[in-house]
Amino acid sequence: MTGGPTGSAVLRVEGLRKSFGSHEVLRGIDLEVELGEVVVVFGRSGSGKSTFLRCVNFLEEPTAGTIEVDGIRIAGGDHRTRAKREQIRQLRIHTGMVFQDFNLFPHRTALENVIEGPVTVRGRPRREAEQAGRELLEMVGLPEKADHYPIQLSGGQQQRIAIARALAMSPKVMLFDEPTSALDPELIGEVLAVMRRLATELRMTMLVVTHEMGFAREVASRMAFFHEGLIIEQGPPAQMIGNPQQPETRRFLEAVL
Ligand SMILES: Nc1ncnc2c1ncn2[C@@H]1O[C@H](COP(=O)(O)OP(=O)(O)O)[C@@H](O)[C@H]1O
Ligand SMILES: [Mg+2]
Repeated sequence: MTGGPTGSAVLRVEGLRKSFGSHEVLRGIDLEVELGEVVVVFGRSGSGKSTFLRCVNFLEEPTAGTIEVDGIRIAGGDHRTRAKREQIRQLRIHTGMVFQDFNLFPHRTALENVIEGPVTVRGRPRREAEQAGRELLEMVGLPEKADHYPIQLSGGQQQRIAIARALAMSPKVMLFDEPTSALDPELIGEVLAVMRRLATELRMTMLVVTHEMGFAREVASRMAFFHEGLIIEQGPPAQMIGNPQQPETRRFLEAVL
């Protein structure tokens, strides 16, 4: 179940399947993300994108297949032994997740949200974590919001705090599940700008579910189109957006562009 790295991929998904009862939502997903790559996943609502991301960090237990992050390789579908739970804990530390609806702790300030993981999970001294946390707030353009509570912040600001919180754990890969789709249109740009910085300045390895085609065109190394629980087409953004091969991909893009 465990082993050393088996290639240069930071994230490797092999044969991933997920069923809910008799409904097979993921039907055999294979995907590798190399160091520094930004892979954009897109596809119709219900095609399995969120389930896919949730399986990658074992928020959902895959029915079958394996997930490997930075050399930690875990098979889905087994009984969760103590050893496997520990592997999942390790994998989560290396995997930053950003959700559509931010998921900040409502009773903690922005800075407290950001330092929670480093202090409680990584055991970092509070003072040190706070200093690093303030730098991350700077990085997402919100140094002055350290002592604000989520409810005092706009959706765009909350999402930028959520990104800072995920980064605080120094993840090997960041997972984004439609990070701008709950935002008012005028707030989308500020979140995409932060994500663009992560890609271009930090060279962060990222797996991003989004329908922001402008972002994908500029930032993605590769795009993967989900259809009914399978990746039916993938390629560089210019090709995927400009000249998709599959009729389903074409139809989807006609609807969103
Ligand atoms: N916890 C769950 N229990 C049962 N069905 C689920 C669950 N989560 C997702 N599904 C189903 O899986 C399918 C894919 O959902 P999802 O991964 O959220 O798709 P997407 O993110 O592409 O819109 C949908 O049919 C959805 O109803
Ligand atoms: Mg979804």
